[in-house]
Amino acid sequence: MSIISNGHVWKYSSFIENKNFSFNKEEILKNISIQEIDDAYLTISKWEKYRTTPLLLLNKLSKELNLNKIFYKDESKRFDLKSFKALGGAYAVEKITKGNKNITISTATAGNHGRSVAWGAKRLGLKCKIFISEYVSEARGKAMEDLGAEVVKVKGNYEKSLIECIKQSTKNNWQIVQDVAWKDYMEVPKLTMAGYSVMMKEIVDKIENEEITHIFLQAGVGGMAGAMVAGIARYLKYIPKIIIIEPDSAACVMESIKTGKIEKINITRESLMGGMSCGEPSLVPWEILKKSVHYCISLPDEDIARTMKLLGNGNLSDKKIIAGENSAPGVISLIACCNDENIKNKINLGANSNVLLIGCEGDTDEEMYQKLLKE
Ligand SMILES: Cc1ncc(COP(=O)(O)O)c(C=O)c1O
Repeated sequence: MSIISNGHVWKYSSFIENKNFSFNKEEILKNISIQEIDDAYLTISKWEKYRTTPLLLLNKLSKELNLNKIFYKDESKRFDLKSFKALGGAYAVEKITKGNKNITISTATAGNHGRSVAWGAKRLGLKCKIFISEYVSEARGKAMEDLGAEVVKVKGNYEKSLIECIKQSTKNNWQIVQDVAWKDYMEVPKLTMAGYSVMMKEIVDKIENEEITHIFLQAGVGGMAGAMVAGIARYLKYIPKIIIIEPDSAACVMESIKTGKIEKINITRESLMGGMSCGEPSLVPWEILKKSVHYCISLPDEDIARTMKLLGNGNLSDKKIIAGENSAPGVISLIACCNDENIKNKINLGANSNVLLIGCEGDTDEEMYQKLLKE
C-alpha cells in the first residue's frame, strides 16, 4: 500500500494566486543588495564549525507523486542549533557589534531566533538578555540559558515580551537584535535575512546544473521566505514557481498578497507550527514578497505529526530525517497540491518537476518532538 495515501486525505485550507505577480530581480535586490548577500556568505562560511547542511532527496515521495526530484534542505544539522535561524541572529550580532566587547545584546523571541542571538553573543563573549513570553516552553528557555543568556519571562504574548525588551533595552542602552522589522528598524532584520540567504547559496552550489522548478517556502513574518527569494534573485538565472506556506490560523502573508498591502490578522488559535504563528508580515520581506510570490497556500495543523513521523521513519527518503513542526508543512502542501488536479495543473507540477522544500528545523524542542511522534 502507498505510504502517503493509505486512505488518508491530505488537506490544505486555502490556495490563492498572486494577481500582482511581477518578478523583478533589480527591485528585489534593492531591499537586500548583492553585496549584503555575499558579505553574509563570506562571513558565515568562515565561522568555526561551519558546514553546508545536507540537501537530501525525498526519493520515495517523488516516486509516489510522480515528480522528477524533491530536494529537502535539512536545517536540523545547522551548527548545534538545529534550525536555519542560527544563520540570522548570530550573524546580525557579529555585524552590529563590530568587534566591540562592551555591548550587551537583547532580543525578544519565541525560541529559535533567541537561541541564535544567544549563541552569537556567546561566540563573541558578549552579555545577552532574552525576553520570552509566558507561552514559550521551559525547554526553549533553558536552551538559551545554557548558551549563557539571561532569560526574562514576561507575562502575556510575544508582543508583550517585545515591548518589555524595547523598554529595558532603551533604559540600559542594550543593542536589540530583532528579526522583525518596523519603521525605523530595518537594518538588523535585513542582516538576519542576509544570513538566512546562505541556505540558497549552499543549495545552488549543490544542485549545479539542475533547475529547481518549484520552491515551497514557510512563512511566519516572511523573513526566511524573503531571504530565499532574494537568494533566488542573486543566484539563479531563472525563476522557479514560488509558493508561500502558512498555518491557516496565521496566514498573514496570504491575506496581504490578496489585498496587495500589509494586513494584520488576529490570531485566535496558536498553531502547532509555532515559529510560523505570526499575525503580520515584516516590512523588509514584504517588499520582496509582494510581487515575487506566485501562490500562497494555508494548512491546518492536522497532518503535522503524521508528516514528522513519515520523515523520521525514513518513509519518504532513504535517510531518516529529524524534522520539527515547522519543517512538515512543505511536504504536506506538496502532497496536497499533487492530490488536487486543478492545482497540480495550474502550478504545473509533473514528471519534470524538481521541487525544493525547506526543512527549517530539527527537534529544536525535543520534548515536543517526542510527544508528536508518539501521537
Ligand atoms: C523554526 C522557525 N521559526 C520561524 C519560522 C518563520 O520564519 P519567518 O518569521 O522569518 O517567516 C520558520 C519557518 O518559516 C521556522 O521554521
